[in-house]
Amino acid sequence: MNHSVVSEFVFLGFTNSWEIQLLIFVFSLLLYFVSMMGNLVIVFTITMDAHLHSPMYFLLANLSVIDMVFCSITAPKMICDIFKKHKVISFWGCITQIFFSHAVGGAEMVLLIAMAFDRYVAICKPLHYLTIMSPRMCQSFLASSWVIGFIHSLVQLVFVVDLPFCGPNIFDSFYCDLPRLLRLACTNTQALEFMVTVNSGLISVGSFVLLVISYIFILFTVWKHFSGSLSKALSTLSAHITVVILFFGPLMFFYTWPSPTSYLDKYLAIFDAFITPFLNPVIYTFRNKDMIVAMRNLFSHFVHFGKI
Ligand SMILES: *[C@@H]1O[C@H](CO)[C@@H](O)[C@H](O)[C@H]1NC(C)=O
Repeated sequence: MNHSVVSEFVFLGFTNSWEIQLLIFVFSLLLYFVSMMGNLVIVFTITMDAHLHSPMYFLLANLSVIDMVFCSITAPKMICDIFKKHKVISFWGCITQIFFSHAVGGAEMVLLIAMAFDRYVAICKPLHYLTIMSPRMCQSFLASSWVIGFIHSLVQLVFVVDLPFCGPNIFDSFYCDLPRLLRLACTNTQALEFMVTVNSGLISVGSFVLLVISYIFILFTVWKHFSGSLSKALSTLSAHITVVILFFGPLMFFYTWPSPTSYLDKYLAIFDAFITPFLNPVIYTFRNKDMIVAMRNLFSHFVHFGKI
């Protein structure tokens, strides 16, 4: 291993202004807390309420689990680091962050595709919904989303851990990401950068295109066959489509833009690390009547229980 020369990396963070640091600290702490609580409430409600034991909600609960893992990869360290003068991360800490962000991000993409497929079957083949989306099918969707995520991540990192890093070791960011790490290696990494662009870029653009096409297809089917129930289907589908655009927009920019402008990059990175895990519960759940009823029941159950 040649990387012994650089054993840790230094994050520059955002700014030196104390007020802005305080603002970012409060903002990210709040967002992190709300994301974790929101997603926990979703998982808890879906697990406890028997009315919600259907494929769509199982997938949604699993998306919440993925979101909680995803925002816990980089956010806690960033929040703890904000006021430190010297923000450091060890070489393997950095590799671990990259590994899990890609693995969990990849799993989330596959799960979003599974959720689109679920809506396709529910809307276009309603009579066969429960036979097609059997528990077995849901479990294999889940298993494959994690397996694909881990393989996608492993394939990229296998080549990176052997690169020589001989300094500089400065990340102009608040967490480790692959494009920036490659730029710090003291060897020609063009082939590797290309491989990362193809791997991460193709996966994100490919999933995005697949999702957009399937949602257009579903919308078209709804429009053609059930003009009466269009508005209900539209509100569910528009929630899904919003999440897809918010999740993939920054990622596609990140991995396929030829020469990322590091300033914009940095703020897009916040967006993906903090806002997406926060928006998922808001978009999918708090506009969903069944979920709201279930949460209200659960809540009153606990209040009642507390009184006894
Ligand atoms: C995830 O999905 C599986 C398969 O449908 C389900 O058994 C499991 O309960 C889900 N996980 C959560 C946290 O709901």
